[in-house]
Amino acid sequence: MSTIKSRIKKIKKEKNAVILAHNYQLGEIQDIADFCGDSLELAKKAAGTGAGLVIFCGVKFMAETASILCPDKKIIMPDKNAGCPMAEMAGVKKLKTVKRAYPDAAVVTYVNSTAEIKAESDICCTSANAVEIVDSLEEEEVIFLPDKYLGRYVASKTKKKIIFWEGYCPSHVKILAEDIKREKEEYPEADVLVHPECTPGVIALADEVLSTGGMRNHVDKSRKKEFIIGTEAGMLYRLRKDNPNKRFFPASTNAVCMSMKLGMPEKVLWSLEHEKTEVKVPEEISVKARKAIDRMLEVKVES
Ligand code: 13P
Ligand code: SF4
Repeated sequence: MSTIKSRIKKIKKEKNAVILAHNYQLGEIQDIADFCGDSLELAKKAAGTGAGLVIFCGVKFMAETASILCPDKKIIMPDKNAGCPMAEMAGVKKLKTVKRAYPDAAVVTYVNSTAEIKAESDICCTSANAVEIVDSLEEEEVIFLPDKYLGRYVASKTKKKIIFWEGYCPSHVKILAEDIKREKEEYPEADVLVHPECTPGVIALADEVLSTGGMRNHVDKSRKKEFIIGTEAGMLYRLRKDNPNKRFFPASTNAVCMSMKLGMPEKVLWSLEHEKTEVKVPEEISVKARKAIDRMLEVKVES
């Protein structure tokens, strides 16, 4: 492993490359990354980096977002099979039909979506800013896609009328309200932090509803010592690594996103050496999708 690590380090320097990893990646990937973060943090980091080559350890929509924001950089995924099943639950044809049915509604698209869907949207959002993005709009009606549960969470926080899409995250729905109740009984002093992709029953039992980056910030500032974490399993590695004096308990060990586990150090080395596999969004889609992403980035959100 140390040889792989040192070779990655050497080639990274030679090629002026940077490794970005999502908080759900395997621990060994998080350890070799230059930066770990949530979807919003990674999008901003990709846009701000001086490196010409970005090795993106996450899922495809995240690498596509980096490609849209940085058309002059080479965006590489160590395993291009890493798709997000939720992103695949929204198709352009159906979106066009829904748009025709609600001509006055704004289209707010969660970044967990394909570039083609983003190109058909007015504005994007992430789990870190969804409520603020919806509230920033002039329109009183919003088509929110693809996550119905994030949509439901937003609807509970805004006065706007939300038109939901029938999408969800197959990993987060595995976390059950019973899991939270059981963990709370076992660790009554713990703060319950859950991701807004969780079902309403789980969200109702949470102390905080946060993006993965929001969870890191919350734990960092909190005086609490114990936390029940309702999100994908990889997050536990991140939190434990950053906070060795605090204790973290997964709400459920079933919440594993297999796509997020496809990145491995050997594949990162291969992708750095061969500059494969490139993710490049075609220009006509990229230009339109960028408008929706840029519009999101312009909205000021208190962190
Ligand atoms: P975050 O933006 O909160 O990291 O979430 C991304 C994701 O895919 C959640 O399932
Ligand atoms: Fe997509 Fe869910 Fe995996 Fe996140 S955890 S990348 S929403 S499938």
